[in-house]
Amino acid sequence: MGRPLKFNIFRYNPMDPGSVPHMEVFHLEETDAMTLFVALNRLREEQDPTLMFDFVCRAGICGSCAMMINGKPDLACHTKTRDLPQEITLMPMPVFKLIGDLSVDTGSWFRGMNEKVQSWIHTQKVFDPKAQEEPMTNERAEEIYELERCIECGCCVAACGKANMRPEFMGATAFNRVARFMLDPRDERSDAEYYEVVGTDDGIFGCLGLLGCEDVCPKKIPLQDQLGILRRKMGFSSIQHLFGKVFARK
Ligand code: SF4
Ligand code: FES
Repeated sequence: MGRPLKFNIFRYNPMDPGSVPHMEVFHLEETDAMTLFVALNRLREEQDPTLMFDFVCRAGICGSCAMMINGKPDLACHTKTRDLPQEITLMPMPVFKLIGDLSVDTGSWFRGMNEKVQSWIHTQKVFDPKAQEEPMTNERAEEIYELERCIECGCCVAACGKANMRPEFMGATAFNRVARFMLDPRDERSDAEYYEVVGTDDGIFGCLGLLGCEDVCPKKIPLQDQLGILRRKMGFSSIQHLFGKVFARK
């Protein structure tokens, strides 16, 4: 017989005027290799069909199942109940707009962030569909791939003290995007142009360096390194920017 599990789950439907935020208790017997994905689906199938949560891939790839698991953001499909105590508290991630219960709208947040940091290759070259692909060294391709592994789950945003205090703060995932394009030889932006994008208090200079982001990233993306590199580069750019202004005045 498996352990009897107790789930405390946040319930609230913002679309229902009669709904009031509250915690609801569910009980379930643990089965072998049970994940939170399995547990939540069983609760919905067997106990409450109105329970809202998100899953797509069940394999740690789509990023849609992130939630607060006993106070820490993580992917529910990758979390085994045997690694948790018998009492499990599930909450929706903060910062993102609540859809209902454990489901939040990370899509709009990430769309906004990608637009803010202009997350695409900037080049003057005119696209020629018949041209051969431009070569890139394996080393550089691997460096870019390392940062491309972000699944936009939002865990790093939910764990970020600054993002929780200041909704406009871009967050570590945005700096990771910028770092990825800085590495890309096809992107022709200069450091000064990147500075225009992230050289603000809502950008790289607003980071408090608490580094909760890297601790919770399920893909183990080296966010701390990227923050350091970007901050140094943007700090240098800001000095050049200031000197440019001084010399322009003279
Ligand atoms: Fe998720 Fe990591 Fe990407 Fe943040 S950097 S959104 S924690 S995969
Ligand atoms: Fe896709 Fe969990 S369901 S990452």
